[in-house]
Amino acid sequence: MTKLSQRHLLGIKNLTTQDIELIFDTAANFKEVINRPIKKVPSLRDVTIANIFFENSTRTRLSFELAEKRLSADVVNFSASGSSVKKGETLLDTVNNILAMKVDMVVMRHASVGAPHFLSRHIKANIVNAGDGTHEHPTQALLDTFSIRERLGTLSGKKVAIIGDILHSRVALSNIFALRKLGAEVLVCGPPTLLPKYITSLGVKVELSLEKALAWCDVANVLRIQLERQQIKYFPSLREYTLYYGITKKTLDNLKKKIIVMHPGPINRGVELSSDAADSHHSIILDQVENGVAVRMAVLYLLAAAN
Ligand code: CP
Repeated sequence: MTKLSQRHLLGIKNLTTQDIELIFDTAANFKEVINRPIKKVPSLRDVTIANIFFENSTRTRLSFELAEKRLSADVVNFSASGSSVKKGETLLDTVNNILAMKVDMVVMRHASVGAPHFLSRHIKANIVNAGDGTHEHPTQALLDTFSIRERLGTLSGKKVAIIGDILHSRVALSNIFALRKLGAEVLVCGPPTLLPKYITSLGVKVELSLEKALAWCDVANVLRIQLERQQIKYFPSLREYTLYYGITKKTLDNLKKKIIVMHPGPINRGVELSSDAADSHHSIILDQVENGVAVRMAVLYLLAAAN
């Protein structure tokens, strides 16, 4: 297969396993390109891409911008803060005004679930979801699964534990969809208040004990506690959370086997992951970031070809 089945990347849920494998194969080629002295290819010359971010971001935004520039696209960046959104302009008016400037693709992060899906029904440009509220973050799941495959050779039959604030995490949902499509076993672990009631309907195991989750898995994907999305208290204190669910280097060294530790970032150092664990040989966090550029290059390149 040489073409994606979709012309937008709105979520992992709509992708086929063949789509994901095509993205991985293309990303592997682009990873080789970005490790050359000349990191740029002309693949998206004359394509204009707008990065529209209504929520804060460091990794995703920089990674998309670098991916676009490595592909020779023309890039414009928009942040809601400092824009006419603050004067009451709607999402559709904002995007239509940007598109009137002849933009071909839109990469969007938005706090509202479904915002990129809404846009895809109203505009002609290809849309890439860079995170919509607590729903999906497809390129994060693609770079996470690509990074696991790079380390372990395959996802099939591997055991992945997703640990922490599952309830508020778009990374968790997109990872669950991607991992299940690629044949991995998935377990979610965290305090019961941070595990959605529907979670077992997605074909994942649930484990409340961190010790048991770590003993079970080959890979631990550790998530940030998203205090900014929590309107009520889900656990008594961060200190208590860390006591039960915080992972240190000692926790990892004491396991009877080697596991891989991942984190999508930003890390709350000393809360879900201690600094000595995040920076240890167990961690592939910076490999995830490196792979993010190659995976996003692959997504943009393949969506442009899907038109
Ligand atoms: N992983 C991730 O989405 O990080 P940012 O919020 O910094 O983009």
